[in-house]
Order: sequence, then structure tokens, then C-alpha cells
Amino acid sequence: MPKLIIDNIAVEVADGVTVLEAAQSVDIPIPHFCWHPALGKAGACRVCAVRMMEGPVKGIQMSCMLPAQDGMVVSTTDPEAVTMRRNVIEWLMINHPHDCPVCDEGGECQLQDYTIAGGHGIRRYDGKKRTHINQDLGPYIQHEMNRCIQCYRCVRFYQEYAGGTDFGVMGSAGRVYFGRFREGQLESPFSGNLVDICPTGVFTDKTARFRARYWDYDMAPSVCPGCSLGCNTTPVARYRELLKSIARRNEAVNSWFICDRGRFANGEVNDPQRPRTPLIDGVESSRNEALKALLFRIAQTEERYGTGSIAIVGSSRLSLEAALLLPTLAELTSSGALCYFASEEESGRTLPLFQLLTAGRSASQRDVRESDCIVVYGCDPLQDAPMLALAIRQAWRNGATVYTVGDGISLPCDVTTVDRLDAVPLSDAKNPVLIRSAADIPDQLATTLHQHDHLKLAVLFPAANSYGASKLALKHLGVSFEQAISSGDIKGVISVEADIPQKLLEGIPFVAALDWRMTETVQAAQIFFPTTAWVEMKGTFINHEGRVQRFNKVMNPGVPIRGLDPAVHPPHIHRTAPPGGEPQPAWQILAAVIEGLGGELITEPFTGEWERLRGLDAECEGVIINDI
Ligand code: FES
Repeated sequence: MPKLIIDNIAVEVADGVTVLEAAQSVDIPIPHFCWHPALGKAGACRVCAVRMMEGPVKGIQMSCMLPAQDGMVVSTTDPEAVTMRRNVIEWLMINHPHDCPVCDEGGECQLQDYTIAGGHGIRRYDGKKRTHINQDLGPYIQHEMNRCIQCYRCVRFYQEYAGGTDFGVMGSAGRVYFGRFREGQLESPFSGNLVDICPTGVFTDKTARFRARYWDYDMAPSVCPGCSLGCNTTPVARYRELLKSIARRNEAVNSWFICDRGRFANGEVNDPQRPRTPLIDGVESSRNEALKALLFRIAQTEERYGTGSIAIVGSSRLSLEAALLLPTLAELTSSGALCYFASEEESGRTLPLFQLLTAGRSASQRDVRESDCIVVYGCDPLQDAPMLALAIRQAWRNGATVYTVGDGISLPCDVTTVDRLDAVPLSDAKNPVLIRSAADIPDQLATTLHQHDHLKLAVLFPAANSYGASKLALKHLGVSFEQAISSGDIKGVISVEADIPQKLLEGIPFVAALDWRMTETVQAAQIFFPTTAWVEMKGTFINHEGRVQRFNKVMNPGVPIRGLDPAVHPPHIHRTAPPGGEPQPAWQILAAVIEGLGGELITEPFTGEWERLRGLDAECEGVIINDI
């Protein structure tokens, strides 16, 4: 544990920590471009200069390259170090465009920040700037090579961290070029991370270009709903339109990155066809009218078909807040079935694996990254949950052996293929992880888990809150909707963000739906309530490992301004609410229905044993829950 002094502050750090990291640990910022916590050092940019005053190393040094050692006395404010950093910025700006006011990266550009901080404003060198021809890298990533400062972050991420092979560094000396050998869409499913890690805007999000400035963004900490991993994101919105998503650091989950599927998934939120108005028999109505109609039809269904004729159906994508209210609604409607899964197939492949995730058994993405033996068994992480494939690659880079049971599984690392699970030498591994998608449990899996107490399990569930839905389904004796209707007694359905196929609704006279997507269930519903998407509300998901994570509201619901016909000016109507702003969080609509049915007014969905989740901070690592 080296002890050193940085700017008169005594610091003690672990072996191997660099001077730059040691300074960061006591909140002393040192400028850096090429160094990145997840990518390590490259020593390429020379902007992290500090002066070593005393100790084993003396003089101006690159703090990102220098391991902290006992007795070092470091100055980050020494005039020589400051001048060096200022000069480096000026050299970098010799070729970089001096166009911050009109640059689309302006406001979120590390080079801009350090250039201003270093005091460079007037270009003294009057030679011609070096220019490049940009490549078309596909629909998602914009290429602006003239902005490049050769920090090598992009290629280190793309090739080393993510295992991509279609992007690299070409040329030499002053003509170094980062791109593809030929123009074309980037092939890596993690290519969007180039946008986040490039410190100057060589790679920007093409889908959100020139739509807003950084200081205009509506942003909040959030969680990606694209799969069950619960990767942390910062969605960015403007004028009620979700513009883009940025990866948000959570070392226990996704570290610094997200996959392209989660990043470029704005379509459904912004969809002009998205249902945004309450409907009664296809006719637009107010929330109150729809609520009255729903209460009337619930009573009517019970009167006609008796108690137990209504099914309450939630889903694996429904927030925990709403999922928690479904049992109360089921009780008040004397429901015949409480369902958290639409189909028997989904329920059958989710619940048995959920039951194997006992305390200490479930593996996080960090557990996968730090594992020395990974077994991919009966699943395809690149398809089911791409970030887990990225985590597997990091383990492999650190020396782990990766086994796949059976052929046909593609991963961004070398693998050893075995025929059977028991052919993997799990006993020799220190912290093995087995990865499995939600599916039936073969005896072999149950036996293997039984035999190896130290084996952790990462289950790839189908949706963002599959874990929460499974937990509640088991607790409240829920059945799948498919099973519920097999008795023939179900004559009414209240579907809460559930994807019930049309064929399962045939012959059911009364269907009510709450949703923010246009689904088959919504189309079949006589009464409909629009709900908010995850970026339009505060809510909670439980990820695949049982980690409860909060997401905050990013933007208000409503028709995006760009969603209106661009040729027609929006109507000049004085409103107190935005057009299409009726959606509410599903739990709030459920609370109103519960109150209308004679239940207590619910203002806080986390009660009883769930109460401890009330104050959960969206910016923490989340809490593992397996005792409720
Ligand atoms: Fe140290 Fe680039 S951050 S050389």
C-alpha cells in the first residue's frame, strides 16, 4: 500500500494504482484523454503531466503511466506541469477544428473543457489544418475524423475490450486514421460506446445529431429495459422526445458500457402511433370517464358471470410499483386469476430457474467479469443479453477459461466446447459462473448446482422485471393467463402492460388494457388507459440477479414536437397540459381503480416488507433482494 503526497494531501492507495488514480481518489482532477478507467493507460496524449517533487521519480511525468510509490511527492499545480499541459492542448488544437460554437459535440466535449481550462483561445500556428475524409459508418454512428486527437481510446475499446475486428487504426505519423478498411456499418453490437468514450466527438450519435445542446438536455439516471441485465443508462430527451441514451457507470452491473440494442431503442417511446389517449370502445375519452367505465364493466362482468370471472394480468416488463398493486386489485375484483405471465411457456421457463437463484447464488455482470471459469449453457448471450457477452470477454481477457456446452454459440472470445455440462472441471475453478437463459431445467443443471456450492448462476430472463414478476407470482400463487383461461371461467381481463396474444383473448367479452405500447392486447381492449414509458416516470425493476434498481423520470409524457407534421405548425391552443400528455404511471392508474373499487387510497406502492425500498437512490449500485 504505497503512501504518497499529492498537492500536500497524504494518500494511501493499493499496489499498482497510478498517480492519476491516486489523485482522483482524493478528488484532485488531472486532465486526461487516452487514460480511461475501463481501458487503462496508453500514454498517448501527454496531457496528464504532473511534476514529481520528491521520491523515487523526479521531474515532469505522465501521471497515468506512473504507478504510485512510497515517498512520492507530487504537484499537479507546479508551473512547469501546468505549462506542459497547456502546450499539449495547444499542439492538439493545431489540427483540431476551432469550431466549438457550431460543433455538435459542443458542451459534452472533454477537449473543449480542457482547452478552455488551459486558456487556449487564439490559434498561434497559421499553417493549414490536416483534414480527413469521413466514412459512412452506418445509421447510428457519425464519423468526424478531423476532430481526432489520436488518443486511441476508440480502437482500444473496439478491438481489445469488445473484440471487434472491422474497425481499427490505419496510416502512420501525422496521417493516423481511425475507421474501417472500407466504408460500411460498424459490425460490433457495442459500437455505440465509441460515442461515449471518444473525448472529442470523432464519433457521435447520428440519430440525435443537431437536435439539442448538452445544456438543453432533459436527463436522469435510468435503467435499460431492453433485457433482464438492468444496465444503467442516462437517457437524454428534449421537447418530449427521447433523443438518445448514454451508458451510466455501475461497477456491479454494466461497468461503463451498454450494448447498441439498449442505446438505439428510442423508436417505441417516440412512435407517433403510440397510444396516448384513454379510450372507451375505441372512442377517445378523459381519464375519469374511462375510470368510470372500467368500474362499471368490472361490476357488470361480475354480475353476469359471477365472482372469479376476471383475471388480472401483469407482465415481466411492468415496473415493480405496479406489479405490487396487482394482488390488491385481484382481491377487490374477486378475481379468478392473478397472472404475471401471459403464456404458460413464459411462466414455465422463468419460474423454475428463478427458484434456483437462492441467496449468494446469483451472478452479477461483475461476477462474470471477475470469474476464472465461465460456462455458457443452453443460451446465446450475444442475442439474449449482449452485455453479458462483453462481461464474458473481460473474464477471458483476464485469463478465465470459457466453456460452451454444445456447438453453435458465438462469443467475442476463445471458447472450449464440451458435449456435456459435467465435462467442465468446475471443481478446479475458484469462482465459476454458469450462464443460462430462462428455459426448462435439465436434470444435469440442477445436479451440477447441487454438487458445486461455489458455482454462481447468471440467468438471462426475458424482460427487465422478470425477477420481480417471478417473485410476486410465487408469493401470490399466480398462474399464467393461458392456464387461467383453460377453465373457461374467465370472462374479463384487466391487462397491465401485458403482451397477451390475440388468440388467448378470443371469447373473452371484456378486456381492459393499460399500456404505453400498441400491442395486440391494446387493440382488443374495450377500455384503454395510456401509461408512461420508463423514461416518463420514476420506477423500479429487479434485474436478473435480484438487484433492485430505481430509474428516475427523464421527461414528461406527450407528443414530441417532431412527431407533429413538420409541414404544419402545431395548433395555437392554450393548454395546461401538453398534447398527448395523458399517460400516467401504471401504478397510479391502478391506485385510482383500487380506490374506485372501495380500497384505500394508495400514495406509496412500497408498503410492508417492501417499505425499505422507498428511499432507494437511482444513482447507487442497487440492492440485492432475495429475502422478501
Ligand atoms: Fe496520460 Fe494520456 S492520459 S498520456
